[in-house]
Amino acid sequence: MRTAIYPGSFDPVTLGHWDLILRAEKLVDHLIVAVLHNPAKNTAFTVAERVEFLKELTGNLPNIEVTSFHGLLVDYARKRDAQFIVRGVRAFSDFEYEFQMALMNRKLSASLETVFLMPKEEYSVVSSRIVREVGGMGGDISGLVPEALVDRVARRLKAPAQV
Ligand code: PNS
Repeated sequence: MRTAIYPGSFDPVTLGHWDLILRAEKLVDHLIVAVLHNPAKNTAFTVAERVEFLKELTGNLPNIEVTSFHGLLVDYARKRDAQFIVRGVRAFSDFEYEFQMALMNRKLSASLETVFLMPKEEYSVVSSRIVREVGGMGGDISGLVPEALVDRVARRLKAPAQV
């Protein structure tokens, strides 16, 4: 069985992430969308919220599982018998970070292959950071996050969770 992990912060999930999920799930039997749980990192959305958003989007795609992980990605991939890591590259500016990460992961686990996919070009400037910034200042985030989540993400960005 071909299993891939699509890891990320998804803080929050964007239309670019969603586009990538739909491309990746066609290539494998099982796609694990894994939200990084990193207590040391300040995020706008809790892990539970980020997982819930992704679950809502992917609910009717039976080969997709949404979960969270902590620690090294290669350890989680080994535990889940995944052979591939999926990552998106939007522009050349993503390349250096992605290249470093892919080579580091290969050093840690030689059999784990990183596969890069490109989202639709109209999403090449969409990022979670832009969504947080625009939404946090009350700007319109439709066209940046999946339609079904626009209102909730916008509301939460205007009124951050008290954690
Ligand atoms: O959406 P992001 O923040 O670009 O995703 C980064 C992520 C979660 C893929 C990366 O930070 C990660 O895999 N973290 C887990 C820790 C790890 O394995 N680090 C070594 C990779 S160089």
